[in-house]
Amino acid sequence: MSTAIRGIGELVTWDDDQPIRHDAGLVIDDGRVAWVGASDQTPAADEVIEADGAAVIPGFVDSHTHLVFAGDRAEEFAARMAGRPYEAGGIRTTVAATRAASADELAALAGARLAELHAQGTTTVEIKSGYGLDVATEARLLEVAASLTSETTYLGAHVVPSGVEPTDYVALVTGEMLAACAPHARWIDVFCETGAFDADQARTVLQAGMAAGLKPRIHANQLGYGPGVQLACELGAAAADHCTYLSDADVSALAETGVVAGLLPGVEFSTRHPYPDARRLLQAGVRVAIATDCNPGTSYTSSMPFCIALAVREMGLTPTEALHAATQAGAWSLQRTDVGHLRLGARADLAILNAPSHLHLAYRPGVPLVARVLRASA
Ligand code: NIG
Ligand code: FE
Repeated sequence: MSTAIRGIGELVTWDDDQPIRHDAGLVIDDGRVAWVGASDQTPAADEVIEADGAAVIPGFVDSHTHLVFAGDRAEEFAARMAGRPYEAGGIRTTVAATRAASADELAALAGARLAELHAQGTTTVEIKSGYGLDVATEARLLEVAASLTSETTYLGAHVVPSGVEPTDYVALVTGEMLAACAPHARWIDVFCETGAFDADQARTVLQAGMAAGLKPRIHANQLGYGPGVQLACELGAAAADHCTYLSDADVSALAETGVVAGLLPGVEFSTRHPYPDARRLLQAGVRVAIATDCNPGTSYTSSMPFCIALAVREMGLTPTEALHAATQAGAWSLQRTDVGHLRLGARADLAILNAPSHLHLAYRPGVPLVARVLRASA
């Protein structure tokens, strides 16, 4: 089965020679990008889509979400907007609601959220556990996540649950819970922060996950300066996400190691923390991704276009850099070479915009500009 898209006003492929083309055509064969060129030379195909001058972009790669949870924390958000600070302990509110939900209920909730992401142009999504904090619930969350994506992350070390000693909990996370969760996960993650896990605990968690075959990523430097980014660089993590508070040494370490800095602008929006300076990172040579961090506490948005608009307005990225961060760099964060771009051979995951240019994603914030999404089934 082949599909040709003709009349593309602007085609973003991230090809080295010509990252953005105009008046382009693209052919998909067997779920892969098989041809890219001038619109009037587009080869014949089984199906033809006329883009009528619209922009076509790679589908968004949302490299950081917590889609599997139950409950609602809108009141906590409202209190924050009235001046109360964000505290990591709010996670326990969601843990109580999530433990009380069945696997079917959790699958329905997460599936509905994933449908929201897809409708807004996201074609690859990472999903974490972390609202179970006991063996059975963490495994249940990962089974649900694995039914929705191959990019699953075990985050048993989100916070220490109420009534449990931190030492005992780290032993559980790196022992029985890891054994139950590793079969359903590709990644291991830890929330390294005051109020969650310190550097030594986080290192123990990540190294145990790595020994079980999982690849490391981390929640780092979200609520203040701290050791998380350095730990990510020490262990060769794929990504250090949040990066809200970075010292010059943190920025240098990210640049030297190639660890992707995952910026999550919805979090700063929803917690009133200061936005990190993405321009500072790019200038230092750091690889910068943006993601939604979709979760009920700090960023309940499923919209990559919203995050792009925030990253442009508040983090100093140009609209083109922000799109790159939301696609190609998201793929780097997940160590994927088949998504995040539309070069020959890429998975045919793309969005056709109701706009002539990707610039409109930031220029027209809040407007539903994703007209159609194609996702390869393989
Ligand atoms: O990525 N930082 C830790 N975890 C989530 C917040 C979780 C919550 O508040 O429920 C985050 O921001
Ligand atoms: Fe997160």
